[in-house]
Amino acid sequence: MLIKHTSRDIEKHKGDMLVYCVYQQDKKVPVCDNKYVQDTVRLAFKAGDFVGKEGETLLFYPTAKAKIQAKRILVVGLGKKEEAKKENGMTSADLWRENYRKAGGRGSTTALRTKAAKIMTVMPEPFILDFRETAECLTEGLLLGAYQFRKYKKTVEEDEPQSRINEIQLYSLKEKGAVNNGLSAGKAAAMAGTAARDMANEPGNVWTPTRFAEHGRKLAKTYSLSCKILSKSDMKRLKMGGILGVNSGSDQPPKMVILEYKTSARNPTLLMVGKGLTFDSGGISLKPPKGMDEMKFDMCGGAAVLGAMQAVGEEQPKGINVVGIVPATENLPGPSALKPGDIITIYGGKTVEVLNTDAEGRLILADALAYGIKQYKPKAVVDLATLTGAVVIGLGHHRTGLLSNDDDLAQQVTEAGNRSGEPVWRLPLGPEYSKQIKSKVADIKNIGSRAAGTITAAAFLQEFVGDTAWAHLDIAGTAYNFTEKSYIPNKGPSGIGVRTLLELIRNWKQE
Ligand code: BES
Ligand code: MN
Ligand code: ZN
Repeated sequence: MLIKHTSRDIEKHKGDMLVYCVYQQDKKVPVCDNKYVQDTVRLAFKAGDFVGKEGETLLFYPTAKAKIQAKRILVVGLGKKEEAKKENGMTSADLWRENYRKAGGRGSTTALRTKAAKIMTVMPEPFILDFRETAECLTEGLLLGAYQFRKYKKTVEEDEPQSRINEIQLYSLKEKGAVNNGLSAGKAAAMAGTAARDMANEPGNVWTPTRFAEHGRKLAKTYSLSCKILSKSDMKRLKMGGILGVNSGSDQPPKMVILEYKTSARNPTLLMVGKGLTFDSGGISLKPPKGMDEMKFDMCGGAAVLGAMQAVGEEQPKGINVVGIVPATENLPGPSALKPGDIITIYGGKTVEVLNTDAEGRLILADALAYGIKQYKPKAVVDLATLTGAVVIGLGHHRTGLLSNDDDLAQQVTEAGNRSGEPVWRLPLGPEYSKQIKSKVADIKNIGSRAAGTITAAAFLQEFVGDTAWAHLDIAGTAYNFTEKSYIPNKGPSGIGVRTLLELIRNWKQE
């Protein structure tokens, strides 16, 4: 999709929709600098239909008198010019980044609904942020909100949007350089997010571990990253008993996809690891049928890591090396599948008593974490995984669970999440939780009790990171099927994690 900055006459824009964003005023008509649009906004305000609240929209069709050539005009409310409340660590900049993103999302979802293919968004006068950041967030919202996945839908339902947005212009007369920079950053982030959504939307029979590997190779080629794919025989040689164990009930060979962006050996390395479980049936500890189809989304962590590597390739950040690892396999109950009671050995030698084959994510992540840390000696590791149902009970669909052995890294990840509109909430770790996964017959077991399921899962991973600063993001509640944002489709994968990782890399701080 084309997105570009423009400063050409708004009224002559021959597109399908012109989008204005306005701030809510205290009991007054929202202000818009186009006279015709302002007149209509005034009428709507007087009728009590539009005050400019965040999320509100006003759609109308210009008459000849308007001298506007676009077919439709959409006015999107931005809410009042207010600072963030002092809660949950959110800054005013974080809040407004999200407001502009949501306004962009509102613009493109309305365009899809009305079959507008060519749209122009007029940049509002920024509040709190500068022109660069405002353009960045509007662009993110516009592009993420325009996302559709219709590859397999040959017949179209009446109530579904039938158009595609094929051109977006972002209008601004002021600060063209800053607006263009913001637009590029927003585009890189949004395209990485939609790439992750595309991977996750592919069904389990298409997006196999082999496809993960092919996609990794393709990214490496496009962006000159180095790429290493560990095959099943490599895993055997390296004694990666976690991923091999989980894979043993499946016919699809496992893959460990490793992408490396290297600037200099003198720079610190950030390692990102994403759970790439292309379908999780639970294995011998089989899941109930209801909702099992959603377990094709159990690779969203892996998709986020490849999405982030794509953005890294686009932006070529300085002063940092980035490694992305995706352990990929299915979890199926085939004749050689792992059985409850089996004991396996993870890369590096720790033994695990498998008491529930449905707690498989931690087994494949353990190999990837231990191997990645040994091989790349990172300054910090972040892993992302749809790891536990318990995180959905604890935090719902609004926040990702964060668990970390390092307060500085946890802080950086939290800030990155806030800046990208992907908020996280930290849960504790500690010896009292680690005790829950001690095994009588092996070093550890792969489940605790029902209590604190998200924490004991993280405590399991912690066994494999040693002293390296590490943050774990449990995205089981945020990776798919949550609805309340204009720029995230209400069904299917959100692409969560991609922009948090990118923001972490862009703002990487060394102590
Ligand atoms: N992939 C699931 C976690 C999950 C659950 C993701 C719901 C998204 C929505 C994971 O592999 C799993 O099955 N976890 C078990 C662990 C349990 C057996 C200790 C769970 O959360 O029930
Ligand atoms: Mn499972
Ligand atoms: Zn799983």
